[in-house]
Amino acid sequence: MTGDPTGLIDSFRRAGQGQVFAFYDQLLPDARARLLSEAAEIDLGEVDRLVRTLVAGGEARAVDLEGLAPAPYEHLPSRGGDPRSWSEAKAAGEAALRAGRVAAFTVAGGQGTRLGYDGPKGTFPVTPVRHRPLFQVFAWKILAAGRRYGRPLHWFIMTSHGNHSETEAFFGENGHFGLDRARVHFFRQGRMPAVDFSGKILLQTRDSLALSPDGHGGSLRALDRSGALDLLAGEGIDTLSYFQVDNPLVRCVDPAFIGWHLVRGSEMSSKSVSKAYPEEKLGHFCIRKGNVVVIEYSDLPLGLQREKDPSTGGLRYEAGSIAIHAIDREFVRRMARGADGLPFHRADKKIATVDAAGGEVRPEKANGVKFELFVFDALPFARNPVVVETSRADDFSPVKNAEGVDSPATCRADQLRQFARWLRSAGASVPTDASGLPAASLEVSPLFGYDEDSFAESWSRLDPKPAIAEGLCLEAPTP
Ligand code: UTP
Repeated sequence: MTGDPTGLIDSFRRAGQGQVFAFYDQLLPDARARLLSEAAEIDLGEVDRLVRTLVAGGEARAVDLEGLAPAPYEHLPSRGGDPRSWSEAKAAGEAALRAGRVAAFTVAGGQGTRLGYDGPKGTFPVTPVRHRPLFQVFAWKILAAGRRYGRPLHWFIMTSHGNHSETEAFFGENGHFGLDRARVHFFRQGRMPAVDFSGKILLQTRDSLALSPDGHGGSLRALDRSGALDLLAGEGIDTLSYFQVDNPLVRCVDPAFIGWHLVRGSEMSSKSVSKAYPEEKLGHFCIRKGNVVVIEYSDLPLGLQREKDPSTGGLRYEAGSIAIHAIDREFVRRMARGADGLPFHRADKKIATVDAAGGEVRPEKANGVKFELFVFDALPFARNPVVVETSRADDFSPVKNAEGVDSPATCRADQLRQFARWLRSAGASVPTDASGLPAASLEVSPLFGYDEDSFAESWSRLDPKPAIAEGLCLEAPTP
């Protein structure tokens, strides 16, 4: 920030946020410049609106559940879906991939607090034998899909201010895992200031604001702000295949899913899995006032989460969201620029700050509010949104926690089960326990096979077939 800062400081004072500059006069020039540049990022009008709507009324308001019903979805053929429609969808998705209309998009700006790993989450070693990092798994799936469809894919990766440089450096050190670096695009998401319970923007230190990433929903405006949408348009790409950085099982570009999205003329499509048990921490696909919405597990009363559907005997709200979407480029632009902005959510958190004398404060309980955007909040604004069922075993095993559910250990086991299943479907004999977990340690490079079809093709070409009993790592087939 150069020039006279008086105007900026005055605008904060007029907005009742003058405390941001409480220590300004005591700061050295560099520290002043840092504080000013962070302050210049803040949209004071937006903060004022959020304080009035989300903070002033006390605790977070309950979500509107009036007239709520489960959302319809396209069932897998194995669960009653029409096989012909699925084949047509897959053919349409494959045609789009061959025509270069699809790009992969990973949101990787999260803080990964629960995992407690030091570094961008995408650098976390996740595969069972080779311990390859999450980013490498996605990179190789994307590389292999590009080869399969004869059109190398573009890959967009949203980072945060906190992990951007480290993420870029990691790709650089690893030669972008063999991808054309001109097709790998990194951009930062936005950040939002935290406020105390009276709506005052908090300082983290005397010369910096308490800023945090604006949530995965910030991806829509960040795609626009970064110029990614124009790049997509220039390349003739109209569909983004959106997934999270913590899920190595994901099919980064799934032709059947992309096909459903295109055939239905959908602006935003979603994958769902049947909830494993009523209290599973997944959002629920629902219909509210005629629109598809995702109601988070924390917002749907337990009574509804446990309710049974008398016609099937299963859960009534069974369709769980796994944060995989196909999103239309121009829909993103409309959401980013139009009047239909995503709503912010309030999260009460412990926020490190300073006291009136500038001394460090590490609160033991929540002392303020962070604001976050969620990408699924775009669904009610999308035309023809379609929810498509997938099998969890083929698409979803996230690494969220250090231990227990959704941890590196459960994800490792799910990868092993997937490799064993692919081998068995291709005709190999693989001893497993009742849960499908193989005794042998297996790893399949995505360059050998990144889904059941591509695996089966590579496997059929192997002659002789390797032994499995002692464990097996299948790397890229030699051309
Ligand atoms: P999570 O909700 O799991 O959050 O993010 P997190 O920050 O990674 O982890 P915790 O809650 O601190 O343990 C789901 C996905 O959304 C991305 C994450 O990188 C992950 O891929 N995300 C989340 C962002 O890109 N930006 C955000 O501001 C939040």
